[in-house]
Amino acid sequence: MRRPFIAGNWKMNTTRSEALDLVQGLRQALPHGNSVDVAVCPPSVYLAPVAAALEGSAIGLGAQNMYHESGGAFTGELSAAMLLDVGCRYVILGHSERRHILGESNEDVCRKVHAALTAGLIPIVCVGETLQEREAGKTSDIVAEQFFGSLAGVSVADASRVVIAYEPVWAIGTGVNATPEQAEEVHGNLRGILASRFGAAVADQVRIQYGGSVKADNAAELLAKPNIDGALVGGASLKAAGFAAIVQAAAS
Ligand code: 13P
Repeated sequence: MRRPFIAGNWKMNTTRSEALDLVQGLRQALPHGNSVDVAVCPPSVYLAPVAAALEGSAIGLGAQNMYHESGGAFTGELSAAMLLDVGCRYVILGHSERRHILGESNEDVCRKVHAALTAGLIPIVCVGETLQEREAGKTSDIVAEQFFGSLAGVSVADASRVVIAYEPVWAIGTGVNATPEQAEEVHGNLRGILASRFGAAVADQVRIQYGGSVKADNAAELLAKPNIDGALVGGASLKAAGFAAIVQAAAS
């Protein structure tokens, strides 16, 4: 049985004081008990203060990106070791905003995945098709290409530590979520290619989150699907009560 994993991707959307208020709100609002893994991914400049504010709670910390090199002359970049040093357990890699706005390729994402795994971070590897690709009937090809490209050369042992997030680009920030059936179809395919690439045991273990307009009122029906093991939440993770309701949906 896979443990549900709900993560909030705050993107570039909080000030320092909003981030700290959100953590305080989450510490109060999140359901107690430990049947769900929960993480928040603040802007990188607030990782350290958020880590301090999370101390003693079960909420994990994640970064929204990193660089694959371990150090050196890479102005503006952050290494996996730096993220670990400020308390991160997770790092989101290959988010569609980084692929489409900042031009990250599968090869870039793959280098980051290897660096994260080597350092001991858990990568949340994002895949997902655009509306144009879906309408052209290319969803499964695009998702498979991103999956194989982003995880090229990853060992079976390391693969079991990876989290996959299926985020259809057309559902991100639009208010139009994939239906549970649309999402489950892609998640089922991903489970299949995980098995073909890494074996049945790894496929059974790896959590596949859905992301794209997840809210308190659609989380339960998405999370009820057998291959949807959690959610990567954008907008709805910015309000403690709404995010807590999504975690509650995963717990029940
Ligand atoms: P929204 O939940 O705002 O659609 O964003 C999803 C997302 O991109 C999470 O990484």
